[in-house]
Amino acid sequence: MNARILILNGPNLNLLGQRQPEIYGAETLDDVIASCRRLGDELDLEIEAAQSNHEGELVERIHAARGTVAGIIINPAAYSHTSIAILDALNAFDGKVIEVHISNIHKRESFRHHSYVSARADGIIAGCGTEGYRLALRRLASILS
Ligand code: DQA
Repeated sequence: MNARILILNGPNLNLLGQRQPEIYGAETLDDVIASCRRLGDELDLEIEAAQSNHEGELVERIHAARGTVAGIIINPAAYSHTSIAILDALNAFDGKVIEVHISNIHKRESFRHHSYVSARADGIIAGCGTEGYRLALRRLASILS
């Protein structure tokens, strides 16, 4: 059976393509997820996707992934820099976790330099644009095989 992967996006990423395109690019979140589904078909990975602007909903989505999903690709967006709750939820998930940031958070304001989620991530991709999600998928295919 194909491994299931959850692609989870945090606040404001529903505005991808419209929001600060000079930083986050022109692809919409629907474009990103569609391209990940196509790549998932090639890699024999089944893609689930969710986005929320609410911390508790992201926590609940991670809980629901326990025991049902082999890996999570997460862009926690601004919650990366603030959310111990998302870190704790990921610590209760026993699959692989790849953290993605579209922009290079280390090249930006200092408040973006620290991510709580990085303490749990098996891999981190930052500054590769929306291609980072596809790179993360390839990495999961490689570590799950
Ligand atoms: C982001 C970087 C975060 O600092 C920011 O709050 C986001 C997006 C990124 O993908 O580059 O919303 O996670």
